[in-house]
Amino acid sequence: MSLSQFEWRVPNVVGHSIDPFSKKIKVDHTEGFGAFDSIFTGYASGVRVVDIGGGEHDYNKAYCLHKYFTSLSILDPFMRTAEHNNLVLQEAKLKPFDSCTSISVLNVINLIKSRMEHIKLCKSVVKECGKVFFKVWPGDGSGIEKVNANCFQSNRTLETYLDEIKKVFGSKNVKFDSERKIIIAVKNSP
Ligand SMILES: C[S@@+](CC[C@H](N)C(=O)[O-])C[C@H]1O[C@@H](n2cnc3c(N)ncnc32)[C@H](O)[C@@H]1O
Repeated sequence: MSLSQFEWRVPNVVGHSIDPFSKKIKVDHTEGFGAFDSIFTGYASGVRVVDIGGGEHDYNKAYCLHKYFTSLSILDPFMRTAEHNNLVLQEAKLKPFDSCTSISVLNVINLIKSRMEHIKLCKSVVKECGKVFFKVWPGDGSGIEKVNANCFQSNRTLETYLDEIKKVFGSKNVKFDSERKIIIAVKNSP
């Protein structure tokens, strides 16, 4: 798909219709295009990245390719087929990804056991010294969980997930970038 064919003005997961190149709108840096901008600005281009919990659409994939020359594979246990997810996992096994992103995923997982599994999966799909970037949508930041029939929202800020991520990657391999609101975890760095 070429740039001219791609329809940028698309609904993102929280339902806003956004054009990432518009100067007028405020892009959310915790989800969708804005999250990728905050992660990939200044990051090496031409890398292979897997986005876990990336949702059902390929808009982010097209955006990252055109703006950052970054190949994004998307895996999502609920929004993609088992067949699709298995192909991504197979690819990771054959050639581990350079990096992994987890964007607005930890905040929707209510059980600690499932969050730990998600964090471990993110680690397992990258190469040695590969980076995993975690971002969350903090909601109102109160830490008061919101639960309804089919969704969970933790309302937790990113730094409250540091301990869980450190347990998987080891403390020395995890950094919190408070300005860009990203936790960067490195797999078994020397
Ligand atoms: C708020 S959406 C974020 C989608 C996308 N990352 C973005 O920023 O536009 C949360 C996503 O997490 C996925 N998800 C929920 N539980 C998950 C889990 N245990 N592991 C991986 N993804 C999960 C959902 O299917 C959903 O697509």
